[in-house]
Amino acid sequence: MTRIVLSSDHAAIDLRQTLAKHIEAKGYEVSDIGPTTTESTHYPKHGEAAARQVASGEAELGIILCGTGQGIMMAANKVKGIRCGVCADPFSARMTREHNNANMLSIGARVVGESLAVEIVDAFLDAEFEGGRHATRVDMITAIED
Ligand code: RB5
Repeated sequence: MTRIVLSSDHAAIDLRQTLAKHIEAKGYEVSDIGPTTTESTHYPKHGEAAARQVASGEAELGIILCGTGQGIMMAANKVKGIRCGVCADPFSARMTREHNNANMLSIGARVVGESLAVEIVDAFLDAEFEGGRHATRVDMITAIED
């Protein structure tokens, strides 16, 4: 069963928990690594924790959230092997998998409402990497990292 790791900072607890239930109901195994309280915290450590699980193969994909989705995405992308796109619309969420082979998705809980976030997650999870010419370009991203 495909395992999805979720994390967020304090700005996105409710949305993250809603998405976790939705993803589980879709038939995925969910690893929600918190946090669980709304106490102010620092998004880099939560982005890194989820990214490490994806990079190690413990989880196939990761979905992370903060207020804008920006900071936690930047932190996740610092982990080798991570390609995380921040998306506020389903089209971008689909394309970031089909063309960029994203293995993580970031969402801004202060940017999109719950219903749109669910559509974004569905678009991301239902899409598949197309390979071909896109693989050449993704390999070029990896080469920068190497
Ligand atoms: C927290 O206030 C906020 O800065 C954070 O959730 C996020 O938006 C950072 O990118």
